[in-house]
Amino acid sequence: MPRMIWAEHYSVGVASIDAQHQKMMALLNRLHDGMMAGTDKIALGGTLQALIDYTMMHFKFEEELLARADYPDCAAHRQEHAALLRQIQAIRQQYEKVGPRAVTIPVLSFLANWIANHILGADMRYRSHVLDKGVA
Ligand SMILES: [Fe+2]
Ligand SMILES: [Fe+2]
Repeated sequence: MPRMIWAEHYSVGVASIDAQHQKMMALLNRLHDGMMAGTDKIALGGTLQALIDYTMMHFKFEEELLARADYPDCAAHRQEHAALLRQIQAIRQQYEKVGPRAVTIPVLSFLANWIANHILGADMRYRSHVLDKGVA
């Protein structure tokens, strides 16, 4: 998995959300680096949990912002978030069972692709609406 690097084309036009997306990418990179370095179970587990916690916080923040903006596609957007949270909890459960072996290149690639595709797809679609409403 190549390191995720935030760039201007990821900007959804809301500074706080851009910063949160950058932090999610940084946590995923840290997980990747930890896996490559063979970091011990506790450190890798901590990073995985930090990514989960931060992602949940970000989704909640974003969903509240979309609700404030009366974004018409809120429900569908929330469903995309919920689907990732289910997947990420499954990774966490797998981690509880087998330890660091649960954190693999395919798992990290899946997360990296999901984050990139979601930002460039669903998140980007609210950009003009949120900017028009001026709630950011
Ligand atoms: Fe989103
Ligand atoms: Fe987002």
